[in-house]
Parts: sequence; structure tokens; C-alpha cells
Amino acid sequence: MVIPQGLTFDDVLLIPQRSSLASRKEADTSSRLSQNITLKVPIISSNMDTVTESEMAIAMALEGGIGFIHRFMSIQKEVEEVKKVKRAQSFVVEDPLTITLQDQNVADVLDFIDKNKVTGILVVNKDHQLIGILTRRDLALEDDLNKKIAKIMTPRERIITGKPSTTLKEAKEILKINKIEKLPLVDQAGKLTGLITTKDILHTIQSPNAQKDQKGRLMVGASIGVVGDYLERTEELVKAGVDVMVLDIAHGHADHTITCIKKLKSKFSSITLVAGNVATGEGTRDLIKAGADVVKVGVGPGSMCTTRIVTGHGVPQLTAIMEASQVARKYKIPIIADGGIRYSGDIVKALAAGGSTVMIGSLLTGTQESPGMTVMKNGRKYKMARGMASVAANWSRKMADGKKDNYGLEEYVAEGVEALVPYRGSAADIVRQLVGGLRSGMSYSGAKTIKELWKKAKFVQITGAGLKESFPHDVEVIQ
Ligand code: XMP
Repeated sequence: MVIPQGLTFDDVLLIPQRSSLASRKEADTSSRLSQNITLKVPIISSNMDTVTESEMAIAMALEGGIGFIHRFMSIQKEVEEVKKVKRAQSFVVEDPLTITLQDQNVADVLDFIDKNKVTGILVVNKDHQLIGILTRRDLALEDDLNKKIAKIMTPRERIITGKPSTTLKEAKEILKINKIEKLPLVDQAGKLTGLITTKDILHTIQSPNAQKDQKGRLMVGASIGVVGDYLERTEELVKAGVDVMVLDIAHGHADHTITCIKKLKSKFSSITLVAGNVATGEGTRDLIKAGADVVKVGVGPGSMCTTRIVTGHGVPQLTAIMEASQVARKYKIPIIADGGIRYSGDIVKALAAGGSTVMIGSLLTGTQESPGMTVMKNGRKYKMARGMASVAANWSRKMADGKKDNYGLEEYVAEGVEALVPYRGSAADIVRQLVGGLRSGMSYSGAKTIKELWKKAKFVQITGAGLKESFPHDVEVIQ
């Protein structure tokens, strides 16, 4: 048996080449996520429960990338997470959160506002006509939590509203002149049709790179599994406006993945479907033939994965990306290089090897926007993270399903670990650093675009001594 060699990021370097780029700013990082979606920044946050929920997805889309919301929650919750992203930054929120005035008191509304992470809420009647507005400020100063909100909300006659056709310029003027932060839009019948907020206008101005859909809303992906409620889940997520569906299982090159892709594409022909994970050219071909629009590549390279140790299977990530992308390119299908990215240089290598985008887990786990718990250890701040096939993740899923203590945890074969990740501040700062490194990397290869990088990239295989030389050495590093 001839055993081929498999290489990963640390086994290679890209050879610097003559460059016509005068500055790294000239490097265009945009790349295809799928045939119909081009990302300005080719970075996706992982669909892991300690990486991506709505907060991370919003941060990623504002930076020009995208977040894929994990699936380890009820359909209703996943739908709500998608809706939060969709509501987050369009200049007009088309489907603002409302409550119908019944008998709510201050405590009910505070709870609702906290759960939905909003600063205020619009009150409507049963015909969806606007009848009041409540802000966190109105509620925060109220001592009597049992007081009915009808008594403290700003009533309709004192609310400044706009027409459904209000433009960005008009909205800015109205908000400025009236010194208000929220402008509900109502039609002639008094029905609520949307909401414009100062925060969203500022975001629009401050985030010129934001990744948006045709309606000006931030883009977001959401994941599903191959068993159980995946068809129903997809239907609801599509209704909520999700841009990309991710069919995600550890060993994606499997008959049931192929059956699922076919079912999904026949039932929801217009969805953009990412399928994975695979680590070979054959796996890539089979998923594409079944109907995948994008293939996600990576078996075992992830920072919290133990698949290769537990099962003895996997392909070093650089080789996996090269083999998958060679096949995918024939079908004009993009590849997501998923897992194992530790430095911006790894992103450059993953893209140079043929990836169109990269998926990142642990580098983003330590940020403010990741859903994990923050803990202190030896005076330092960390966030809890875990592989989706870890014992802890499995335990949480079973508990959420209402299982009791003894549900067979001892028989569960974990393929992931739990970990502490140093707190790293905001996801935007991390993404900007990574993009800076990517731009520099592109200029070292003389590539103005990712496509040029594919053509021009030349790898050299290195030894352990070469790797050692690549890191700072023989000095006491201060920072
Ligand atoms: P990084 O290295 O960016 O990788 O943290 C993130 C990717 O790791 C995969 N993942 C797992 N793989 N067992 C595995 O074998 C696990 O428990 C696990 N959890 C996540 C996933 O593809 C993710 O995007």
C-alpha cells in the first residue's frame, strides 16, 4: 500500500513573489461564499454553541464576514436568533418587536426586553396599530414592578412617527430635530410597518463593509442536522429570512447526508445550502452531485476536536483543502476551509490552497460576542468553549431535551473537548487583525484578489527547524 503524505498549515510556507501592490490596502479580500453570495471578508464564525449566536453573527456581518448560528437549540430559539440578526441593522427594521397591550406589568416587559436584548418596545393593539412605546429608561426608573404598562408607556398621540416611505435622509432629520432615538413607521390606517432607530443609522454609517442582503439587512447563516426536525427547522429558518443553510455533521461523506441534501434541495429549491464536513475529493464530489451549493472541508483539524485521536481518521487540513478544491472547482462550487486556523497566516494558506472562505471557531470563542461563560483563573479572564462533540456539549443537549440524570452519558464517545480560551475583547478587533494579515499575505504573493492568490500561490514544504525559525526565537518576547 502506498501511503500518500498529508500536510497542514505548519508544514508549509508560501514563497514570497514579485508584487505589484503598492500597499496592502490594494488587496481585495472579497470571495465567494456561494455562487450567489460574495463576502467582503472571507471569514465565517463556526456554528458552535460557544461561538455563534446572534451577537457573534451581527459582529461578523458588520465586519463583512458572516456567522453561522448553531443548531443546538429549539427551532423557535434558532429562528429568533436569525430574526435578531435580521432586525439588527437594516436602516428600517421591517418586523420590529412588539407587544400587544393586554394586562402586562413592568416586570413582564423588563423580562421581554432583557430576553430580546432591545432597548425598547412598541405597543400595538390587535389590529397592529401603534398605541404606545416603552423604553428601558421608562422602565428602569419605575419602582412598582406590578404597575400596568398602559400607565407608563408614551401614548400614541405623543409619539413622533414617519411614513412607511421615509428615506434615510428624512429619518436622520426627524430624529435630530426631535431629539429622539426611535422613529416608528405607520401607514395611513395607523398600522405599524417598521422602525428606524438612531443606533441602526449609526451602524449603517459606521460599518461600510457590512455584509447585507438585498433588503439591506445583515446576512446570516443557520445550521441544521441530518436527523429529526431538519425539514421543519429549515422551513422556519427560511421564513425568518436566513441567507444560508448549513447541513453540518462530523462525517458528512455519508449516505444520510446525501439523502438529506436531495430532500432539502427538492423541497426548498431556492436555498443556498452548505454541506459537510468532508476531507477528500470524493466526499466533495458526492455532496456536490447531491446538490450542495458549498462544501465545508475539515475532519479533525479544529482546536477542540479529538476525532483523529478517537477514530484514527482525518486528513491534515492543507491537503484536505487542496484535494476538495481541485474537485469543487470543476463544478464551480466554493469550499469553506473549516478548522485549524490559529493565525492570519493560516487563513492565507487555506485560501491559497483553494479555499474560498475560512471558518473559525476558537479564535472567536474568547470574544465578548461569543455565547460562552466568562470565568476568572489566576487573575486572568477566560471564556468557556467546547467542541460540539464533547461530553459537556452532549450533556447540555440531553438536558435541554428534558432527559434526566442517567441517560447513558457513560456510553457517549466524545470527539471533542471542553476548554478555556483567553478573553480576547471584541470579535471586530480579531477580525480586523486577521484581515490585515490576509491583505499582507496577499501582497507577499503578489495577488490583488483571492482568485489571483489561487493562481500565484507557491508553497514550500518546511521542516521542524523551519517552523521553529518562523516563530520569534532567541529573544525574551515582551508582547
Ligand atoms: P477551530 O480550530 O477554528 O475549529 O476552533 C472550529 C471547527 O471545529 C469543528 N468542531 C469539532 N470537530 N469535534 C470535532 O472533531 C468536536 O467536538 C468539534 N466541535 C467543533 C467544527 O468544524 C468547527 O467549525
